[in-house]
Amino acid sequence: MTNYPPDQDLGEVLVTAEQIQVRVAELGRQITDDLAGKTPLLVGVLKGSVIFVADLMRSIEGPVEVDFMAVSSYGDATASSGVVKIVKDLDAPIAGRDVILVEDIIDSGLTMKYLVDHLLSQGPASLRTCSLLIREGRKDPQVQLDYVGFELPPAFVIGYGLDVGQRYRNLPYIGTFTGDAQAGG
Ligand code: PRP
Repeated sequence: MTNYPPDQDLGEVLVTAEQIQVRVAELGRQITDDLAGKTPLLVGVLKGSVIFVADLMRSIEGPVEVDFMAVSSYGDATASSGVVKIVKDLDAPIAGRDVILVEDIIDSGLTMKYLVDHLLSQGPASLRTCSLLIREGRKDPQVQLDYVGFELPPAFVIGYGLDVGQRYRNLPYIGTFTGDAQAGG
């Protein structure tokens, strides 16, 4: 398809595919160093983090495992409802594990805060947090972030896992969405 996304849907590219690749490799090196001698367990939050998790885990040297959780907060709307519900929990216990919670984006921080509390209550050896994107100028960070890819202005963004109405997760870059979110695909 030559015109994808259609012109009306894509504003500007905020982070190119190459910039993402370089930053993810840096994060992978940092995690490799910080957790040398351990076997970190990456916990990805579906669905937005899948692309990031897949690239991040391949940029970590040495043993690494992955698990996923699914939560429902935004649904198909564009603003956070603040309500977090666990739709899919972890497959295996994390007691004694070195866990890294991986998100694609931190907006209000409510999802990450809820998940950090949920995971800490299960007795991991350590818990770190990682997000590819955070909103610029968040005044009241809900949780401490250990690994961050990029800070973004408060625009509605798509690509590299981020969607509108489930579309555009497959774009290799991150760009602003300028279309009609209610129009559907
Ligand atoms: C996004 C993102 C986080 C959450 C962040 O998920 O992946 O889970 O919103 O928002 P917050 O910081 O305001 O809590 P979304 O609900 O869009 O689902 P998806 O990952 O399946 O696209």
